[in-house]
Amino acid sequence: FTSLLLMNFFSAGNIPPGVNQEAYQWFQTVDTDHSGFINVKELKQALVNSNWSSFNDETCLMMINMFDKTRSGRMDLFGFSALWEFMQRWRALFQHYDRDRSGCISGTELQQALAQMGYNLSPQFSETLVRRFSVPGSRPGIQLDRFIQVCTQLQTMTQVFRERDTAMTGNIRINYEDFLSGVIFSVFNALP
Ligand SMILES: *[C@@H]1O[C@H](CO)[C@@H](O)[C@H](O)[C@H]1NC(C)=O
Repeated sequence: FTSLLLMNFFSAGNIPPGVNQEAYQWFQTVDTDHSGFINVKELKQALVNSNWSSFNDETCLMMINMFDKTRSGRMDLFGFSALWEFMQRWRALFQHYDRDRSGCISGTELQQALAQMGYNLSPQFSETLVRRFSVPGSRPGIQLDRFIQVCTQLQTMTQVFRERDTAMTGNIRINYEDFLSGVIFSVFNALP
């Protein structure tokens, strides 16, 4: 990708206003069929974890859903540029909390990260999250792709909860269908 990236750098045309320059280069490289859009498969090639493994499908799909304003299952240059900037922020956070630079966030590191983001969650809950989002067969830990998935889903679910917890007691009463709507909303329409 590095050499492709350089080639594109030198042949770069006019970058539309508001589009991140680095995102523009990547978009040209990744949009292999030059459709002007990138789909999940193409996106997967653009995003890598610390050890260069590609992002998991669920996270890529979630991101397409977040940044695909046309609801067509693909992203244009503007959507991709917004995603690019969103990614830089998550990558910086991830690197900040991955204190031992292992490329993976441990249960303890996740708990510290979530505490600093304002989530009051128990160490046991963080361990459960890490177990749920670890790559099967590897040592427990969350890579960048799943870290973004976890944080984005927590953020959306918390928002759903807070909207109902108007008295801020930390408890809500919720009926079955409202509960299901919250889950569906969080999984399919995650907000940045
Ligand atoms: C990257 O790390 C994950 C999780 O530890 C592991 O399953 C995967 O095989 C690694 N990939 C590469 C390319 O080293």
